[in-house]
Amino acid sequence: MNSVMELLQNHTSVRKFKEQPVADQLLQEIVQASQYASTSNHIQAYTMIRVKDQDKKNTLATLSGNQPYVAECPIFLVFCADLNRLGKACSINHETIESSSTEIFIMATVDVALVAQNIMIAAESAGLGGVYIGGIRNNPQAVCDLLQIPQHVYPVFGMCLGYPEKINATKPRLPLSLILKEDTYSTVGDEEHLKEYDDLISNYYKERTNNKRSNTWTEGIAAFLKEKQRPHMKAFLNDKGFEMK
Ligand SMILES: Cc1cc2nc3c(=O)[nH]c(=O)nc-3n(C[C@H](O)[C@H](O)[C@H](O)COP(=O)(O)O)c2cc1C
Repeated sequence: MNSVMELLQNHTSVRKFKEQPVADQLLQEIVQASQYASTSNHIQAYTMIRVKDQDKKNTLATLSGNQPYVAECPIFLVFCADLNRLGKACSINHETIESSSTEIFIMATVDVALVAQNIMIAAESAGLGGVYIGGIRNNPQAVCDLLQIPQHVYPVFGMCLGYPEKINATKPRLPLSLILKEDTYSTVGDEEHLKEYDDLISNYYKERTNNKRSNTWTEGIAAFLKEKQRPHMKAFLNDKGFEMK
């Protein structure tokens, strides 16, 4: 395995950070390297807001469902899908952006995810660790008010970064047979492989140091997905100018 693949397979989310600050120059290098992520039609439809103000970080920790590491981490980034700048690009050229489609919403959201994952990996390659914070979508309008996020821009997730105080064991992923198919979407054997994965993950949950539990992956998914997730998102996005027609 080469060193990049090794780095990828060693990823675990970090939620406990050393107080050691991260040099601004290192953050800039990480972000600059990450900008070379592929981007739909080169639209680069993202903006990251680094939140330095401690009061704002505290508020974001609360808004994210009381996640203390949002307040504690040396670097907190809010990743936004951004059509605002693209609107400017159009108006400079005497055109009006057609921002109402579902497709442009997907393009911008995918762009955000790609650049963010590059940032996570670049940060890990430099000895940092981090965790995504989807919790900012618990209260997306309050996040927009706090950070003055305009129309046609929405906060997709946050990310905590810093030098790890504690590194968790890697969480086993689904077996390849479930996620890599050949020629057709065949589900033959999937149930059996899910059962094997349930055994693997429940052993992992039983053995890990923190938050020990004994449930399986499918049980966790069922408990999570029987509920409608963040039902406010559609109205929020529509209000923000993402009409998704
Ligand atoms: C978009 C996204 C949002 C996430 N939101 C949160 C979050 O709000 N809080 C948290 O503690 N972890 C969050 N996570 C981290 C996941 O729980 C974690 O990646 C997953 O359980 C796999 O664990 P690992 O990253 O340690 O391998 C998020 C991950 C992603 C990709």
